[in-house]
Amino acid sequence: MPFAPGEMPVVRHHVFVCTADPCLEQGGEATYKSLRKKVKATPGLEGVRVCRSGSVGGCRHGPMVVIYPEGVWYHSVTEDRVDELIRRHLIAGEDIAEWRFHQTEGCPCIEGIRPPGGDGADDGA
Ligand code: FES
Repeated sequence: MPFAPGEMPVVRHHVFVCTADPCLEQGGEATYKSLRKKVKATPGLEGVRVCRSGSVGGCRHGPMVVIYPEGVWYHSVTEDRVDELIRRHLIAGEDIAEWRFHQTEGCPCIEGIRPPGGDGADDGA
């Protein structure tokens, strides 16, 4: 359901599931649907938003999942790994090191999480 400006609830985690090819062929849509359904059904995860995304890189190792504000890319997140992703990362706050494909410095748009040397402002570059 879309929200009006200023009505967006607090977002604790924003989860992007790649559903572009070849992640789609590797099960990205099934991962997205399962993750979205299970997150909505899990008490305590009201602040987790799950969205489809286009390619995020690492296409041959999909389905790829990117989670902010941690800025972590997980590879090979097939539908059978959704329960583990929810339990370990979204509930326990664990960094699932064996799935990690890439790590950024976090999301510069979230207060308190800034990349080194940056203020998060758009400099128009
Ligand atoms: S198609 Fe999913 S990361 Fe490129």
